[in-house]
Amino acid sequence: MTSEELLQIASDVAAKAYAPYSKAHVGCVLISASGKLYTGCNVENASYGLTICAERNAIFAGVAAEGPAFRIQQLAVIALGLEFPPCGACRQVIAEFAAPEVPVIFLKNKQAAVLTVEQLLPARFSF
Ligand code: THU
Repeated sequence: MTSEELLQIASDVAAKAYAPYSKAHVGCVLISASGKLYTGCNVENASYGLTICAERNAIFAGVAAEGPAFRIQQLAVIALGLEFPPCGACRQVIAEFAAPEVPVIFLKNKQAAVLTVEQLLPARFSF
C-alpha cells in the first residue's frame, strides 16, 4: 500500500480515539509480515499514566491475532490536526517487532514522511 493510503486508514482510525484529556486523536495502521492489516487508536484515562498510544494498540492487536511470530512490514501513524512521529515508548515497542529497515510513515509539513525503525531508534535496547 502507498504511504498516502496507509495514512488515510490511520486517519479514519484516529477519528475513533478516546482522547478527552489531550484532545489529540491518534490513529495507527500496520501491515504485518503475513500481509494482514491491524489498526489502533489512543485510549486515554482519567489517571493519565494509564493512557495507551495508538501504535501500541495496533501492535498488540497484531500479536493477539498472530501470536509471537507477529512482525511489522509497514506502519503509519497520524494525529488529527497535529503532526508527530511515534513517541519514544512506541519506538521501542515498534523495534521489538520490526526489522531495522521497516518504514514508519507519519505526516510532516502536511506530507507523508518516512523514517526507518533504525533511524527512529538507533542503538535501541535489546535483551
Ligand atoms: N499518543 C499516541 O497515541 N501516539 C504517540 O506516538 C504519541 C502520543 C497519544 C497519547 C495521548 O493520548 C495523546 O497522544 C497525547 O500525548
